[in-house]
Amino acid sequence: MYAFQNDYSECCHPAILKRLSALETEALSGYGTDGICAAAANKIRQAICCPQAAVHFVTGGTQANMIVIDACLRPWEAVIAADSGHINVHETGAVEGTGHKVLTAPAKDGKLTPVMIEEICRTHTDEHMVRPRMVYLSDSTELGTIYSKAELTAIHELCRDKGLYLFLDGARLGAALCAEGNDLTLADLPRLCDVFYIGGTKNGAMLGEAVVIPNPSLLPDFRYQLKHRGGMLAKGFLLGVNFDVLFTDNLYMQLAAKADQAAARLKAGLLRLHVPMLADAPANQLFPILPNSWIGQLRQNFTFEIWGQNDPEHTCIRLTTSWATSSEAVDALLTAIEECQSQIGQ
Ligand SMILES: Cc1ncc(COP(=O)(O)O)c(C=O)c1O
Repeated sequence: MYAFQNDYSECCHPAILKRLSALETEALSGYGTDGICAAAANKIRQAICCPQAAVHFVTGGTQANMIVIDACLRPWEAVIAADSGHINVHETGAVEGTGHKVLTAPAKDGKLTPVMIEEICRTHTDEHMVRPRMVYLSDSTELGTIYSKAELTAIHELCRDKGLYLFLDGARLGAALCAEGNDLTLADLPRLCDVFYIGGTKNGAMLGEAVVIPNPSLLPDFRYQLKHRGGMLAKGFLLGVNFDVLFTDNLYMQLAAKADQAAARLKAGLLRLHVPMLADAPANQLFPILPNSWIGQLRQNFTFEIWGQNDPEHTCIRLTTSWATSSEAVDALLTAIEECQSQIGQ
């Protein structure tokens, strides 16, 4: 079986396992107060060129989103997201569970624009409605699209004018930053965002996301919030190890670039076979639209997500590559798709 289901199907990069096993019986202080977390946080501050940013490690993306959004908002304040945004569709109401409404804008390619945000602000006018106070976006988005520096800057400027916090979910930040055509860097993010997170789980870590808070007004009490919402891991050093290794010798970006290279090889092959795609996705997730009749045959040797029914005869699937996806796996999938074309037809 070849895996295209996810970018977190493999355990982790071997350098992380090696570092963990070297720690075997070493006694470290708990709850992220250890030296490994401190070193990892420093490496992240260096990589983003923001010495004053706070860095906190949590186990997963839903947890990061829920904790950050709830930390920033007063009870009556709401967060703006694309309708396809992860917090709106795939987090089981975790954000709403903290009492904050998610206000959504229809975003065809998964990306928010200033016009969409302004429209939501315009229609939320008084104290009988929730008050929009934060913009949530992810890079890459749910549809694998990425934000350009100009797009993110325009959103940042609007947020500043409207008094909105800008929160970037970076569950797949590495893949976005290494994607073809991307012009954003890690160092741009603390300037443009009030808070963001750097995803480890989907980029070679065993687990973990690094929440980065450059905006000093959001710093007070964040560790109380972490603990209150169940995000303060007793063995916090396990998270620190992942990021300490990933932010040594640029491993984080190298792994993301590998995932993107596999996706680019796959995308080139799919385009050569004239397979239509749901969106122009340059990072590590692709959304080809296939005849329903191919799905069963492909499922025999490949794992992937069914994204949705495109029309009665066609299904959109999601193919995700990771740092561990081999060229052999990509070529095997392309061959299988070519066989479907010739044996089953459109
Ligand atoms: C953009 C984004 N944010 C957050 C998450 C949630 O992560 P987790 O499944 O670790 O809670 C995901 C997971 O797929 C994601 O793609």
